[in-house]
Amino acid sequence: MTDFVETVMAGRARLMCETVIAAPRYSRLGQITGDPGTGKTSVTNWLTEELGAIRIEAWAGMKEKTCLQELAHAFAKAGYPIDESGTSNTLIQRLIRHGTEGKLIIIDEANHLRWPTLEMLRSISDIGGAGLVIAGTDLLAKKFTHPQIRVFLEQFRQRVGTKKVVMQPVQDAGEIAAYVLAPRFGSVTQKSATAFLKKTGGNWRFAVALADACERLMSNEGIEKLDERVVETAAAWMAGGS
Ligand SMILES: Nc1ncnc2c1ncn2[C@@H]1O[C@H](COP(=O)(O)OP(=O)(O)OP(=O)(O)O)[C@@H](O)[C@H]1O
Ligand SMILES: [Mg+2]
Repeated sequence: MTDFVETVMAGRARLMCETVIAAPRYSRLGQITGDPGTGKTSVTNWLTEELGAIRIEAWAGMKEKTCLQELAHAFAKAGYPIDESGTSNTLIQRLIRHGTEGKLIIIDEANHLRWPTLEMLRSISDIGGAGLVIAGTDLLAKKFTHPQIRVFLEQFRQRVGTKKVVMQPVQDAGEIAAYVLAPRFGSVTQKSATAFLKKTGGNWRFAVALADACERLMSNEGIEKLDERVVETAAAWMAGGS
């Protein structure tokens, strides 16, 4: 398990969340998007700890009421007990009344939610005053033909405005060396870092997997120092699926 690294992207996400909390009511919405493996889930977990946020993770087919129950449960876990029983309406009312004001709610995998659920979350933000950050694939870039959904989408877009962070792959060899390689392998040459960046494309998930493979290879073969040959061989192992 890799400890969370406070990357430049993480700093941006934190700043965006702080802007969401400080924004006027009816515009306390933000969004984190990015390709698979760029660190959305990791950053939302870190933000939750750093900012004392309330985080839930949606799943495919999640129903509105289940989402509200998860939210009430997460509030309780964060030290704000909210009764999970009752209808969806009662739960929304409870969440709005029992102090969501000023709190930050983060929903990971929000792209799994249906529009009525997203609308309900928006009301908790609008009326209750909570900051709401949705993470996942870019909901706001979607095209909808249904007129009602287009209105919902526009309301969401306007509230998010510029409070958006797109998680990018790690861009350069120096960064990948500092973020992924140095914590495991100590200092590495520019050449090794460049080879590592090239093989992973700066994608966090691939980088962690390749670093694991390099470690295994080094341990199997008694190699002490990471070099390009280790990176190339470990990458070839992975490509071969062994
Ligand atoms: N800042 C970071 N510090 C340390 N490890 C990280 C960081 N960001 C990502 N990782 C590692 O990369 C892996 C993939 O990241 P994560 O699951 O957060 O990506 P994701 O964008 O949520 O992907 P998906 O779209 O598939 O859900 C994590 O399991 C974690 O090990
Ligand atoms: Mg994720």
